[in-house]
Amino acid sequence: MAANWKMYKTPDQTRDFFRDFLPLVSGHTRDEIVVCPPFLDLPAALEAAKGSNVSIGGQNVHWKEEGAFTGETSAALLLALGVTHVIIGHSERRQYFGETDDTVNLRLKTALEAGLIPICCVGEVLEEREAGLTDDVLRRQCVRAFHAISAKKAAKLIIAYEPVWAIGTGKTATPELAAEAHAVIRTEATEIFGEEFAANLRILYGGSVKPENATTLISQEEIDGALVGGASLDPKSFTAIVKY
Ligand code: 13P
Repeated sequence: MAANWKMYKTPDQTRDFFRDFLPLVSGHTRDEIVVCPPFLDLPAALEAAKGSNVSIGGQNVHWKEEGAFTGETSAALLLALGVTHVIIGHSERRQYFGETDDTVNLRLKTALEAGLIPICCVGEVLEEREAGLTDDVLRRQCVRAFHAISAKKAAKLIIAYEPVWAIGTGKTATPELAAEAHAVIRTEATEIFGEEFAANLRILYGGSVKPENATTLISQEEIDGALVGGASLDPKSFTAIVKY
């Protein structure tokens, strides 16, 4: 159960969130819980979550070890802080910041090599869904993102299916639509990494997940968890989703 805070909250607001959230989920062992705040909130989040059952993730990582890359963040920097997870290839990165399947591939390789747990996002835009291209798009995104990565290297990989038309729009994929897309991704993962890998692969659903729809979505056999944007900013609503 992962929270993507996007560009919300200051360090003080981060501390407030954890003060309220941690008691609500302490003792919850059924799911792994990850919160991905903006980079500048990471120290506050890590400090607040220390010793708890909540892990902290970044929202992006550069593929180079270090160098003249103004504004970028390396895997080493994330690891030095104590970050364990990282979101890669979010549709907002693809839409607004020039992220491509190839740069997703570079970031994934680096994250896996460094020992970070990547949450790799895939998903179609509305025009692609309406043109009946959803399966092709998901397959292409997977093939390119996982190019030249072995099943052994990819062992910790988590995939998030986030239909772009459902992000921040209040429109949720129906549980059936989401499950169908997850099945396409799992089949593609079988082709690329093999059956055993695909059987153990966790695929999260993201896109307007709320306390009211979490149960019907996540109780789908194919859906292993959620990547939550807006509804993860409030401790009570994220808790309701975590404990669906
Ligand atoms: P919302 O839950 O706000 O639709 O965002 C989903 C998302 O993009 C999570 O990464």
